[in-house]
Amino acid sequence: MLKFDYNNLMSEKVGDQGIKSIPEITSDIKAALATINKMQRDEALRVKTGTQWMALPDQEKKLIDDIVATGNDFAKRFKTVISLGIGGSYLGNRMLQDSLKSPYYNDFDSVRDGRPKVYFSGNNVDPESLKLLLDNLDPKTTGVVVISKSGTTTETKAAFENVKEWLRKAGVKDLKNRIIAVTDKAKGTLREEANQNGYKSFIVPDGVGGRFSVLCPVGLVTAAIAGINIKELLRGAGDMNKASQSTDLIKNAPLLYAVLHTILYKEKNKAISILMPFNDSLKMFADWYVQLLAESLGKKLSKDGKVVNVGRTPIPSVGTTDLHSTQQNNVEGEYNKVITFLKVEKPRRDISVPKASADFLVDKPLSLLINTAEEGTEWALVNEKRPSCTIVVPEVNEYYIGQLIYFFEMATAYEGELLNVNTYDQPGVESYKKYMFAMLGKPGFEGKASKLVKDKKYII
Ligand code: PA5
Repeated sequence: MLKFDYNNLMSEKVGDQGIKSIPEITSDIKAALATINKMQRDEALRVKTGTQWMALPDQEKKLIDDIVATGNDFAKRFKTVISLGIGGSYLGNRMLQDSLKSPYYNDFDSVRDGRPKVYFSGNNVDPESLKLLLDNLDPKTTGVVVISKSGTTTETKAAFENVKEWLRKAGVKDLKNRIIAVTDKAKGTLREEANQNGYKSFIVPDGVGGRFSVLCPVGLVTAAIAGINIKELLRGAGDMNKASQSTDLIKNAPLLYAVLHTILYKEKNKAISILMPFNDSLKMFADWYVQLLAESLGKKLSKDGKVVNVGRTPIPSVGTTDLHSTQQNNVEGEYNKVITFLKVEKPRRDISVPKASADFLVDKPLSLLINTAEEGTEWALVNEKRPSCTIVVPEVNEYYIGQLIYFFEMATAYEGELLNVNTYDQPGVESYKKYMFAMLGKPGFEGKASKLVKDKKYII
């Protein structure tokens, strides 16, 4: 299992910036445990509360086999694949590819091992990147995966329409055989289109929200195309699921993580959370986590409707790169941060400093350098009484990434209960959409943005 080293969160190491001792199971913790345990046992409750993601480690074998077969078929037929989606329909896909293959996946044949290049688009409406992509890929050898739970998201839709037009213009006739749609079983225009045109499609299960969807077809289809072992991923998540049900705080690492961070947030003013993997391939993991924490817990209202404006602010980082950037602020800036390190014990590849350079680094493997830097960063923070913790990942493979995903999902779920907010909605992201709809003439939104535009008084 992953190890959660919380020593440097404790007063013993960081004085009054830390936590005196592991807390007793308070009534808040008991209530959080009871709520989550109930959800874990009751499917109807999970669907109703948006927590059906808790059951994803146990998806039907038939579905998983279908995803693997579809991924292999796509991989055989196409040289490139464009995956369209945003938020939870993008970040997890990219995170799986970068961590379990490599951020260089598209660059090197040896990394892809005969699999197609996978490009992610539709995660912005930046015209430059989409145009550049379409101007440079060959439509004849490209397959498309379009992912949207709602089936109506503007960014994904705008890119998808362009991609289809690009295929048609190139004379590609068999659109049906080269598009996979992942969307709701009934709702949304994407479902309608997939059914009408006979695209191969997968369902985003009811009760699985975007940022918790990486272990359902949303994240698994592109992973299967890239040759990632999705069964191992789910096995890892399943094992963390078992550990996260324990009522013993010390045996339930996601709960302990949530409890300690909530104490530091509420009692020690630690409002900023930095996730710093010491591994380039896990850089995207930090980006995935940012969405999970920010959208789940950054909330105006409590469950009972009181204005609370809570939520730690997540910051993605990577070691050692950011030791030459944000680390100065981490060590000497405001006392408002907690850092979580992801430390990889055994890298998949290693290389040593060659003899030619003839100094103290000679013959030292870079794995030693990076792990020493990670330890040094912990030490530097402790010296300045800055709390941090470390999750030790034995190696970056499907099994441990499955565990890591589930660890943070469960920790977020527990923290949402401790903060008494709805972890599974995101009302704050709706406003800009309404503005866009009004300005761009979506039926039903006519004239709604005019006041807003007139009120722009402070532009010079
Ligand atoms: O977590 C969420 O629910 C969101 O970030 C969604 O994933 C994002 O808005 C994309 O939505 P959809 O999959 O419906 O296109």
